[in-house]
Amino acid sequence: MTAGRSLGALSGAAALLVLVGGSGADAADEAAGLIKYRQLLMQEAEAGMAAMDLYMKGQIDFKPAFAERAAAIAATARDFASLFPPGSDKGAKTNAKPDVWSNTMRFRGAVVRLTQESAKLAAVAKAGDEAGLKAQFQNVVDRCDGCHENFRLRM
Ligand code: HEC
Repeated sequence: MTAGRSLGALSGAAALLVLVGGSGADAADEAAGLIKYRQLLMQEAEAGMAAMDLYMKGQIDFKPAFAERAAAIAATARDFASLFPPGSDKGAKTNAKPDVWSNTMRFRGAVVRLTQESAKLAAVAKAGDEAGLKAQFQNVVDRCDGCHENFRLRM
């Protein structure tokens, strides 16, 4: 869950892309798969957040498996670092801004912060800290929105 490990994963995926990129078509297929995969993981994170939001807003009266939801998002967030290797700006329709690749350090920082904040949310939920839950949930929302503002095209 450290920045170092995320960065290692990123260069691993980048190396893989280069390795399978013997012919242009293979590289494009690989990028198309990665783009689809990262969009699905983003949707999964969105569903997890929306489900938790129902509880936060008092719209359901039982406590969902909040810690597990939050931990799943943290696990997903760790993967984000590997899912935007160089060359994956094309091959399928993507809403990632070019800044993902031109401002890599900032992008990686945003990935690490989401990983940390969602892991913290899982910990707060596990500890049964109801008061802390709301604030930490908002911190995670801010990490999603902050990165989208900088790195995702308006959808
Ligand atoms: C580090 C930056 C970053 C963070 C943090 C981030 N996202 Fe994203 N998100 C992106 C980028 C970039 C895209 C566009 C991906 C693409 O189209 O290739 C995206 C796309 C999406 C999409 C659209 C997927 C689709 O179907 O095309 C959703 C939904 C989404 N994010 C939800 C979330 C949620 C919820 C969180 C927080 C739990 C989050 N994101 C955190 C960068 C981020």
